[in-house]
Amino acid sequence: MTLQIKSIEQYQEAYDKSVEDPEGFWAEQASTFLWRKKWHTVLKNDFITPDVQWFVGGKMNITENCLDRHIATRGDQDAIIWEPNEPDEPSVHLTYRELLAEVNKCANALKSFGVKKGDRICFYMPMIPQVAIAILACARIGAIHSVVFAGFSANALAERIKDSQCKVVICSDYNRRGPKNIPVKDVVDEAVSMGCDSVEKVLVFQSTGGKVMWEPNRDVWWHDAIKGMSKECAPEIMDSEDMLFILYTSGSTGKPKGVVHTCGGYMVYTSYTFMNVFQYQEGDIYWCTADVGWITGHSYIIYGPLLSGATTLMFEGVPGHPDAGRFWHICEKHRVNQFYTAPTAIRALMAAGYNAPNSYDLSSLKVIGSVGEPINEEAWHWYDEKVGRGNAPIVDTWWQTETGGIMITPLPGITDSKPCFASYPLPGIQPCILDANGIELTGNEVEGLLCIKFPWPSILRTTYGDHERCRSNYFAAFPNMYFTGDGAKRDTDGRYRIIGRVDDVINVSGHRIGTAEVEDAIDQHSGVVESAVVGYPHDIKGQGIYAYVKAHHEVIDEDHFRREILAVVTKEIGPIAKPDIIQFVSQLPKTRSGKIMRRILRKIASGESDSLGDTSTLLNPECVEELKAGALV
Ligand code: WT7
Repeated sequence: MTLQIKSIEQYQEAYDKSVEDPEGFWAEQASTFLWRKKWHTVLKNDFITPDVQWFVGGKMNITENCLDRHIATRGDQDAIIWEPNEPDEPSVHLTYRELLAEVNKCANALKSFGVKKGDRICFYMPMIPQVAIAILACARIGAIHSVVFAGFSANALAERIKDSQCKVVICSDYNRRGPKNIPVKDVVDEAVSMGCDSVEKVLVFQSTGGKVMWEPNRDVWWHDAIKGMSKECAPEIMDSEDMLFILYTSGSTGKPKGVVHTCGGYMVYTSYTFMNVFQYQEGDIYWCTADVGWITGHSYIIYGPLLSGATTLMFEGVPGHPDAGRFWHICEKHRVNQFYTAPTAIRALMAAGYNAPNSYDLSSLKVIGSVGEPINEEAWHWYDEKVGRGNAPIVDTWWQTETGGIMITPLPGITDSKPCFASYPLPGIQPCILDANGIELTGNEVEGLLCIKFPWPSILRTTYGDHERCRSNYFAAFPNMYFTGDGAKRDTDGRYRIIGRVDDVINVSGHRIGTAEVEDAIDQHSGVVESAVVGYPHDIKGQGIYAYVKAHHEVIDEDHFRREILAVVTKEIGPIAKPDIIQFVSQLPKTRSGKIMRRILRKIASGESDSLGDTSTLLNPECVEELKAGALV
């Protein structure tokens, strides 16, 4: 099992070793796993091309490490506890032995469809145990999973299926989210009909039993597919650097890109970070509230916990259903020891009932985590006092889809927790702060661009089908560095505070949204000439979406036009990308080279019209007064 850091001295020692001898450090961690063949080289380090490889030549299968390896010692321990949408329905417990059997049956079903190593499989699923089973089934046979958050539209799903040419789509009939029952199979049908010719089979889990359309040559019920399938399935022996999964995420330009993670390094890093950041102890119940459609769900609901032999809780529903006490009720019911959620949920629950957690027994909690966006001071203190109650320190964990695992975080009970600070880098992580010219700002009390100087085992390897995009996005800004896209500060004691994105990416309720994507969607409306989208501070969501829209004709009925624009965005991307505010303008501020000057738009959207700075370089400075006068904040 992974070694756990237990004191500040051990942290310092591990950190120093990881910098002086990264290969020795990670080889020691990797050797706690089951390898079919040992690696011949720990690290291939090319941070320029980039070409990073870990545990090169090693052979393994991640599911053998998640499941088979644990059967002798904890076969009858719960691997997954599932809490359904409705509190009065029974929860489901799957032991490691049962989970292995289900994974193997599903793996054999996929094989019966002709799925082979390297094939891509798309997921569009609710938070039910079958999503974990099928993800592991893919990994079992070497198929590459590409999970798409089930809140994206049919268009967005089709785009992702096509980009990676998925052979199978795995979905459910419906998706229960609080009071809603969303017909997800319909969305899949629509997506596949949009030219997704690679799709041979759609595997449908019957979750609610509601009515669905059926394509008999293509669609297969899950229960039919696994009927009679063997509980044994030999794991496909994978190379350390074979692809494990693709996960699409938004960037500052263009369409979402498929971030690629590989088997060996991802395995070592997610387990190491899970054990250390959450200080998981034998028998603990761990709960991460993320959706499996995001990296947090991949690394810290499924892989990290199962690799570590933990019991991981999965929740189907939403924080407010049936009321704002649901999270605390679940913590009490299952005696949750580690709880991991997002600032947006913390703020929403704080707003819904400041004292609501008081009615629940939260004494089992030992560690509480935050992830996805900066946590503001007020929310941090509420979480600390009402939920942590002096027994459970907060871990504010900073990381990204691209990093695969947690990078900067306090270690609970080991390093201190300071409000709004992600604090210290984990062993193996070498962050630095650069100025705009790429000069490293050494010493403390500095602010600038956050970069990482040295590879860690779960760094992204490429962006699917477009390696140049990976290079130019992350490795070209500053030579020999991974550029995160975030701004950060270092305090007098060397703690890091993440300020937020410095590129055209906005973080809405912890969901990453590219402004260019939203603009492209808005521009699909035939009445729109052009648009510009920026983020602005939002009490609950962290950032809201503010859109400036230039129409072809004078807008007579603004509300009607707004509704139409929202409908287009919902259709193109999904409801999560809907602008909160739409301001109609007669022109957008442009530089002489024709670029939209977003700095001005950001200021106006943030209610800072008084400090616009120099606007004299604009091609059309006269538009500024109109923008200010029409501002909707
Ligand atoms: C972006 C990555 C990491 C899983 C969920 C989001 C922001 C993430 C924090 C934090 C401040 C944070 C960053 C980052 N972010 N965690 N603890 N404090 N900001 O993954 O969708 O890839 O988004 O989320 O801006 O770049 P993602």
